[in-house]
Amino acid sequence: MDSIIVTGNGPLNGQIPIAGAKNACLTLMPATLLSEEPLTLTNAPRLSDIKTMTTLLQSLGAEVSQLQDGRVLALSSHRLDNHVADYDIVRKMRASILVLGPMLARHGHAVVSLPGGCAIGARPVDLHLKALQALGAVLELKEGYVHASAPQGLRGAAVEFPFVSVGATENALMAATLARGTTVLKNAAREPEIVDLAHCLRRMGAEIEGEGTQTITIQGVDQLGGATHPVVADRIELGTYMLAPAICGGEVELIGGRIDLVGAFCEKLDAAGISVSETAKGLKVNRKNGRVRAVDVVTSPFPGFPTDLQAQMMALMCTAEGVSVLEERIFENRFMHAPELMRMGARIEVHGGTATVTGVEHLKGAPVMATDLRASVSLILAGLAAEGETIVNRVYHLDRGYERVEEKLSNVGAKIERISGQ
Ligand code: EPZ
Repeated sequence: MDSIIVTGNGPLNGQIPIAGAKNACLTLMPATLLSEEPLTLTNAPRLSDIKTMTTLLQSLGAEVSQLQDGRVLALSSHRLDNHVADYDIVRKMRASILVLGPMLARHGHAVVSLPGGCAIGARPVDLHLKALQALGAVLELKEGYVHASAPQGLRGAAVEFPFVSVGATENALMAATLARGTTVLKNAAREPEIVDLAHCLRRMGAEIEGEGTQTITIQGVDQLGGATHPVVADRIELGTYMLAPAICGGEVELIGGRIDLVGAFCEKLDAAGISVSETAKGLKVNRKNGRVRAVDVVTSPFPGFPTDLQAQMMALMCTAEGVSVLEERIFENRFMHAPELMRMGARIEVHGGTATVTGVEHLKGAPVMATDLRASVSLILAGLAAEGETIVNRVYHLDRGYERVEEKLSNVGAKIERISGQ
């Protein structure tokens, strides 16, 4: 297993390119199952999760080619010869559940392994299943697999989510595009990745209104065509790298960054004393003056503060002046980076879903363990600002969601290198 060694090296300066969004691409790729025609995704990120989704779709009989060094994905599922999404693939990546809705809508049946939990929580899929049942699916759980059928096809329905779920909204949205009649999704997720999916489905011929609001209305159509669609910029990668000059000092321009994707996050950075300004190519970030100030954070669905940036913000708050209270309201176990940050001298008290951070002047480099994707990168950020050397182990977590992190950071002056493990 590879490790990454980071040595505190002072302010950062330069440009970091922002890739296409992992969490948009992971729902855009299964959309190919809805149509016989080819789907081409440009600005695709080159990540291990994308490779896992590629393997899953190919196991169903879809064709997926990576062109232009992986930046373009050419997908086609005119010939599907398998309707079973196997546990061995699904257990590696929960987003695999997103093949269920499209496969059911187009073919009338699907067998998908339940994803199981992950480090940050149990992460059930009950909302996905209830939404598909509302659209007429007959579901049976057998030996860890969901057996779904809709022999007469799906029919439009009113679906009200008891609480916001990104994945359940995506599964229901894709399924509804081919359901007979009108579907209304209430309390739908409003994330930019949902908006991007709706834009792509509309290019394929779907009739959708209201994406980005709490109510999405879909008129089912008989079939969908092909499309070429650019994957939206990754707001979580963007927010992550905005924190690099925030925690180290200096000035970094995030190429391709869009301020509308990180509104709530930028408000917190401004309150903490970090300046964010729009440029012709993206966003420029630097510290206004002096030490970062502690601010409180509560995670919530978009347009609130993203849970996927909580770990990274905690790293910044570890070096801030004052006390910061971070409340994680989306997942039940998303503070695993805290004990690792404490090994670097951070002062953090965790009680249930609340972490209280008392900032310190300097963190100290130390060997630390990555536990999940976003925790991994928060340790990298802390290492950038720490005195001495930090060794982050198990960086396979990192490679799921960050393309060439050591290259992007060393290009702006960070002292960071990857050590290949056995
Ligand atoms: C998506 O996960 C993202 N993943 C997550 O990013 C992100 O943290 C999350 O949305 C919230 O923004 C992808 O898009 C591939 P949810 P998802 O359904 O769809 C509970 C990353 O780091 N829930 O909005 O799984 C669930 O347990 C990843 O890139 C149910 O109880 O998230 C969680 O507590 C991590 N039943 C909450 O709802 C369900 O049927 C929100 O989950 C579905 C969800």
